[in-house]
Amino acid sequence: MGASVLAICGAADKKRNTAAMLKSAFDGATGAPGASGEFVWLYDLAFRGCSGCHSCKLLDERRFARCAMRDGLTPVLEKAVAADVILIGSPIYFSDVTGETRSFLERFFFPGITYNKEREPTYPKRPKVGWVFTMNAPGETYRGYFDGLAAMTGRIIGETEYVMACQTQQFEDYSEYAATMFDEAAVKRRHIEQFPKDCEAAFMMGRRLAGGG
Ligand SMILES: Cc1cc2nc3c(=O)[nH]c(=O)nc-3n(C[C@H](O)[C@H](O)[C@H](O)COP(=O)(O)O)c2cc1C
Repeated sequence: MGASVLAICGAADKKRNTAAMLKSAFDGATGAPGASGEFVWLYDLAFRGCSGCHSCKLLDERRFARCAMRDGLTPVLEKAVAADVILIGSPIYFSDVTGETRSFLERFFFPGITYNKEREPTYPKRPKVGWVFTMNAPGETYRGYFDGLAAMTGRIIGETEYVMACQTQQFEDYSEYAATMFDEAAVKRRHIEQFPKDCEAAFMMGRRLAGGG
């Protein structure tokens, strides 16, 4: 049996940078021998972040380590705990992942730990996780944040790695927007020369995580 792959996109637009890069990671993973997969768009779902009800911490096996909230995210959380590979993509909004991605993380991560001294992980399966980040800042700007998020994902969910695309193209025609801080020619050149390489790195990450070498 090959890996079951779940891709979760936390970008609003289905055709721009994050979606394209996450699709590359998904193609890499689902192209591994025997692998199968599903692609989920968080912006299509009606859901909220963790309500802090603490039901998932109750010493009651029907409730423990399960999110009690019932909404559009519920089936995604059920698939995530059963997956072998989870790929998560988000643009950087104000130095963080998007609000939708963050709300998903709260609902996915919180039932995955206890308040015991050890704060041990609770999910029975340890999937491999690949993060995809895109941003308009230069390369190393958010390295500390990415390393921290990858470390937390690794502790709670499973072995984690990430890829990123920097200085992404946001507009077709920069002259139509209040955006003089960007060098349009340089951004477009990077989109043509570097972005395909970033997508290739995402593809390779997906393939590696799904056990395809
Ligand atoms: C609301 C908003 C906030 C943003 N904040 C940041 C930021 O803090 N740092 C950054 O590097 N880019 C920031 N960006 C730029 C996006 O991260 C970047 O354009 C990204 O590639 C967009 O992904 P997309 O093309 O998939 O929509 C922001 C964009 C938006 C719309």
